[in-house]
Amino acid sequence: MDYHKIVLFHRIVVSLFLLHYVVKLALLLLKKSDLLATYTAKTKVAEMVVSALFLLTGVYLIVAGPALVTLQWIKIAMVLASIPLAIIGFKRGNVLLAILSVVLILGAYGMAEVAKKKRNQVKTEDLSALADKEKGQAIYTQSCTSCHGPAGDAMIGDAKNLRESKMDDAQMSVIIKNGNAGMPPFKDISDEDLKLLVSYVQTLKK
Ligand code: HEC
Repeated sequence: MDYHKIVLFHRIVVSLFLLHYVVKLALLLLKKSDLLATYTAKTKVAEMVVSALFLLTGVYLIVAGPALVTLQWIKIAMVLASIPLAIIGFKRGNVLLAILSVVLILGAYGMAEVAKKKRNQVKTEDLSALADKEKGQAIYTQSCTSCHGPAGDAMIGDAKNLRESKMDDAQMSVIIKNGNAGMPPFKDISDEDLKLLVSYVQTLKK
């Protein structure tokens, strides 16, 4: 299966789910209880389908994707916690619980964005004492192994096998800086670090 397409699909499903609950919350807050009841009844099947797809694609991404960082676990916990709150809140017309559930889902969404940003940063402050070759390797270990594995051939989440890459230094530099498909961009890497990293990645080739 195409991991990258599932990621996109998951995002679409999550956005639909979010939109649905924002609409429900708005109706609840505006005290349009008749409209809320009609909307809820009309969207019942669609909600079940979207929720199931939400969970299925989520589980797939957990299993097939790179290991999760702490922020992503917190995100998942928030989503799971929001489900019973939403069910009870909207069923009983309890505004506080309903708001809390939507805030949790929105917060989880924000958390996912922060986690993504953090993951794509290369931290090199504590690597300054290392020799060049070790520094390249250290950056690789820190930022790349979650998808490419220590040897470059793990191919987690559709990541390319770096040991079989035909790219030269310049091409590698471009894809590392700008990303492509499921490959995240590492925009803030310095030119010097990028050079060390690329030389290291080249040594992984067979
Ligand atoms: C979140 C997962 C992920 C992380 C983290 C990641 N990559 Fe990738 N990488 C990918 C994917 C997916 C592709 C394939 C992209 C495509 O189809 O063009 C890829 C492709 C590449 C390629 C192109 C190989 C080729 O021959 O096409 C290089 C080089 C590369 N990554 C290096 C790195 C380096 C260096 C790092 C760390 C700074 C890194 N990657 C971090 C997922 C990742």
